[in-house]
Amino acid sequence: MTDGSPAAAFARLADVDDGEADIYTTLAPLYRIMYTARGRIDGQLATVREHAPADAGTVLELGCGTGDLLGALGERYEFAVGADPSPAMCRLAARHGPVCRADARGVAPRRVDLVVVVGAVLGHLRPDDETRAALDHIRETLRPGGRVVGTVHDRRALDGPRERSLSRTVDGYELTQTDEQRPTGGGEFDWRVAFTMTAPSGERRRASTTTTLRAFEPAALEQWFTEAGLSVVETHPRTYVDGDGEDGRAFVIVAERC
Ligand SMILES: C[S@@+](CC[C@H](N)C(=O)[O-])C[C@H]1O[C@@H](n2cnc3c(N)ncnc32)[C@H](O)[C@@H]1O
Repeated sequence: MTDGSPAAAFARLADVDDGEADIYTTLAPLYRIMYTARGRIDGQLATVREHAPADAGTVLELGCGTGDLLGALGERYEFAVGADPSPAMCRLAARHGPVCRADARGVAPRRVDLVVVVGAVLGHLRPDDETRAALDHIRETLRPGGRVVGTVHDRRALDGPRERSLSRTVDGYELTQTDEQRPTGGGEFDWRVAFTMTAPSGERRRASTTTTLRAFEPAALEQWFTEAGLSVVETHPRTYVDGDGEDGRAFVIVAERC
């Protein structure tokens, strides 16, 4: 089952060897339950709409994950297509719109009006050459005057280890997610996510997974955008929140193809 329901997520957890699967194989079925329901998509859509070109019709969302934002973009714009390298994420996203399995450099340039790359997708691109190559590709994918709207973790907020727990109960399934961020130097941090899910029957399953992400200094990322031929329109702290204490931990960057 891959329908994004709590029951499907619970069934999926049975297949996940603790800590061994790719992070998004583990996260995909649970991600939607934990993130989408907290108003995250509304916040992302508002950010995108605020900064998109007024006449935008075609949109590419890189790292579209579960596709919830992609679906909302498809309703707002003439055509929205998503891309994500995770097969598990792509399966979920395909329920919301056209999606291809590809990383940030794998989508053929299309001259779209808007590229959306939100939710720390750029933080997956390491080392520096990968990030720069992706920004070059984003420029090639935009029509002149087209815009890219991104959100990334703010390196200035990477001040030490951090942990938070969130719980939700949906359809009788109780899900607790614990996130840990451990800075490892150079703006990078290990992100560990552990889930405990309890079914209405009382059966309990657990999964955990870790990946390395990077955070950015706004001025340094602006410089990289500029060097890629993307003229920065603005950067500002992300204002919508995923939970208490999230203010200032990420920023929005908006740039235009010269
Ligand atoms: C933290 S999730 C965010 C998903 C979605 N954008 C959101 O905000 O809900 C990061 C996503 O980036 C994708 N991703 C990882 N590496 C990527 C790459 N090199 N290019 C594009 N997407 C990538 C992952 O598969 C995952 O779906």
